[in-house]
Amino acid sequence: MSVLSGKKILLGISGGIAAYKTANLVRLLIKAGAQVQVVMSPASLHFVTPLTLATLSKNPVYSTFYNEEEGNGEWNNHVELGLWADFMLIAPATANTLSKMANGNCDNLLIATYLSAKCPVYFAPAMDLDMYKHPSTLDSFHKLKTFGNIMIPAESGELASGLVGEGRMAEPENIVAFLEKDIASKLPLKGKKILITAGPTYEAIDPVRFIGNHSSGKMGFDIADEAANNGAEVILVSGPTHLNVKNNSVKVVRVTSAQEMYDACHEYYNEVDVAIAAAAVADYRPKNVANQKIKKNESTFSIELEKTKDILASLGEQKKKQFLIGFALETENEIEHAKQKIQKKNLDLIVLNSLNDKGAGFGQPTNKVTFISKDFEIEPKELKSKEEVAQDIINKVIQFYNA
Ligand code: CTP
Repeated sequence: MSVLSGKKILLGISGGIAAYKTANLVRLLIKAGAQVQVVMSPASLHFVTPLTLATLSKNPVYSTFYNEEEGNGEWNNHVELGLWADFMLIAPATANTLSKMANGNCDNLLIATYLSAKCPVYFAPAMDLDMYKHPSTLDSFHKLKTFGNIMIPAESGELASGLVGEGRMAEPENIVAFLEKDIASKLPLKGKKILITAGPTYEAIDPVRFIGNHSSGKMGFDIADEAANNGAEVILVSGPTHLNVKNNSVKVVRVTSAQEMYDACHEYYNEVDVAIAAAAVADYRPKNVANQKIKKNESTFSIELEKTKDILASLGEQKKKQFLIGFALETENEIEHAKQKIQKKNLDLIVLNSLNDKGAGFGQPTNKVTFISKDFEIEPKELKSKEEVAQDIINKVIQFYNA
């Protein structure tokens, strides 16, 4: 999955021949999962039609401050466009547009939008080779970089003039690759490794039967996707579930029993910065596992159970640098029990589910949690989708590293 997935991108197009390539650029951004809105300078309308870009972006395209043809007084709000965007991309950025951006010469909607945008701004210059080297152009590049704008350098090759040299707008594929690389390098959990457990465990009774539970694994899978989307390297150790991760950078280790989950977690634990135990691990397992299928000979039948190892507690015991998050599912005295678990398992944070809360727990798309920190700070959350709860949990991790 691209880091551009879900991003809101405002594409500003200025009037150079490379504008014809923006149709493909919009297509690639949409294919990467981004939402795109286009603002055009009046000169760019000669090179590519708004209809093409509106069709590809599935959004109206703006090029004037107000709707001149309709004369209905409708105002195209450049401030709103600037606030909507996660980032702005100006491609192609002509020498004229770059100079206006550098000097705040606000004579069209594109420049007004640029000046109102609070988000990061990328610009991909496109011009003839001598213009690209001209001191005034170099001065614009320099000024814009000092404003914090990010330049996507032009490429070398044959130019519209017939001359060969530097100045061609970076190819749309290369612009997308540049954006992806730059955004990925700035994600808040870049360089962090996170271990997550998810799902139930199955404890064998005989070759065909097991003791298990109804955990779907969704909470753990959502946390894994959210962590990876924020740049972390994620190892997800999951018990039996039909789920798959959406972010395919997540390394999924599939296990069946509590013992296998314990072994897999300890294989990776030393190298991780964060561990989040969202699995519903079986607390007991059959003491003896039959080699053959058990026949129904007796009228009653009992199985002797023994305790499984508490994976989270063992991670707490061996904790060095790791930020350790556990879950607690309680039915009474919730806060008190959760606080005890923080101490018993040496946790930094516990995510408490109360079965008394509607919409919380197993098999639901939603969850209602309360965060309790190791200093016993209590933070109740609203009923939310599991994806949103995953965001809240990963935000706690981000806060920990930015505190
Ligand atoms: N956990 C674990 N290994 C186990 C049991 C639990 O890693 N063998 C983890 C779970 O993933 C969860 C937390 O520990 O993060 C839950 O703690 P637990 O003590 O099992 O609490 P409850 O499930 O609420 O059970 P109980 O109150 O009966 O102790």
